[in-house]
Amino acid sequence: MNPLEESGRGSRCIDPCVVVIFGATGDLTGRRLAPALYNLGREGLLPPNFALVGFARREKSDTQFRDELKKDISTYSRVKPLDIPFWNNFQEQIFYHRSNFDDDAGYIALAGKLKAIDGRYATRGNRIFYLSVQPKYFPMIIEKLDQFGLIYSPSDTRWSRVIIEKPFGHDASSAAKLQSDIRKHLDETQTYRIDHYLGKETVQNLLVFRFANSIFESLWNYRHVDHVQITVAEDIGIAGRGHFFEEEGLLRDVVQNHMMQLLSLVAMEPPVSLSAGAIRDEKVKVLQSLRPLQESDFEHHVIRGQYVPGFIDGKPALGYTQEKDVSPTSKMETYVAMRLFIDNWRWAGVPFYLRAGKRLPKRVTEIAVVFKDAPGVLFQKNGQKNDPNVLAIRIQPDEGISMKINCKVPGPSSPIQPVKMDFRYGSYFGQSPPEAYERLIWDCILGDSTLFARSDEVAKSWEFFTPLLQFWERQGEIKLVSYVAGSWGPLAADAMLAQEQKAWRMP
Ligand code: BG6
Repeated sequence: MNPLEESGRGSRCIDPCVVVIFGATGDLTGRRLAPALYNLGREGLLPPNFALVGFARREKSDTQFRDELKKDISTYSRVKPLDIPFWNNFQEQIFYHRSNFDDDAGYIALAGKLKAIDGRYATRGNRIFYLSVQPKYFPMIIEKLDQFGLIYSPSDTRWSRVIIEKPFGHDASSAAKLQSDIRKHLDETQTYRIDHYLGKETVQNLLVFRFANSIFESLWNYRHVDHVQITVAEDIGIAGRGHFFEEEGLLRDVVQNHMMQLLSLVAMEPPVSLSAGAIRDEKVKVLQSLRPLQESDFEHHVIRGQYVPGFIDGKPALGYTQEKDVSPTSKMETYVAMRLFIDNWRWAGVPFYLRAGKRLPKRVTEIAVVFKDAPGVLFQKNGQKNDPNVLAIRIQPDEGISMKINCKVPGPSSPIQPVKMDFRYGSYFGQSPPEAYERLIWDCILGDSTLFARSDEVAKSWEFFTPLLQFWERQGEIKLVSYVAGSWGPLAADAMLAQEQKAWRMP
């Protein structure tokens, strides 16, 4: 059953299974995956017959692994403090498996361990393999899992599914190669390409907001929308991931995946149903309609930036090239702003402005739909201009939706002032939404891939960005501009909008 159709979180039937995390001693496991599994368990959403196996290269015992996860969960879980009675039971189902990713003996031993777990916890042979490892290991791990009988045929009564972390590929050709490598071992129905933005409640709500309300759809097009701004700002830097960032950069880390998901959901046509296929078909059409970027766009409508030392919240912040594991002469980007167009009937001529960056003043992800000005005959005399209406969808934090409208200030002189109508999830529903990883791991256990990226989506997105990446490879040094940590990015990004008589919103 589709996650958007179900009536309640607990209403779907769930199979017993074992989740095996590859890269279990990494940052993602501690910060996101372990807290997600813990919260799913605490809320009664994991199957009663369940086990977790951490697969990694470092030497450690089950007890050490459990203790480390306990510490991480206590620090990073959205619900605190740790529920000790629940944890004491839950940890009994957690195991550690030491092996190198290329070691056949490690996979043979893993198969034996999983069989024993099936016997002890009645997990019935069902498996999720979560690949939270450097992308270069994806094909090898999948090949070994297949070789040692850990991937079943899709028609087997038991199931095996593989969750693949991003980035899925490095550009169009490497993504195609990765896809063809894994296709030899995995069916598309067993492949779950994760983009955790799709697991965010507010991202899922985009579809509900657009297609369960009649008032917005008639305005959602080139006739009424002046432009759209999508912002993914983070105050954190690269968070100790120097090696990763030096390889990938911001465009591959955030824009090619998370931002393209937001863009597709905002711009897509209504799907014919809520099935995974129907929704993903419409998202792909948006990516297919992106106007290819030309050399002149690379020059004038894409800004590539890197942060230099500054202050965030009054505290000094290092520049990118001073960060650990980063070359002092690195030319890698930590900020991207760009203008793009979707050449279809709905969005003809409407610019979409995207910006994303590390070490900006605050963490905020927002989609702002800026509407065209009202005719200027009544309230815009003497050159006075009213603010445009803006519908701002706040993805995080303070999840919510606000609408900016113009209003008369009480009193005889009638000045006009923009005001905000505000809806906030937290205050309205009295709870903060679950973490994206909870939703996605749960959907994978249920076998629902709606909120995962399909191979053609990933391919289209890479097709769009690869010419830009190649241009940067040739011209990267020249095209890189700096911005002070704690600022809203390079001045060139402001100038790009100013040329078109627009300005970035202050989210
Ligand atoms: C990850 C990126 O995919 O998303 C990180 O690799 C980024 O660089 C993170 O910080 C942002 O996720 P969220 O959920 O905090 O917006």
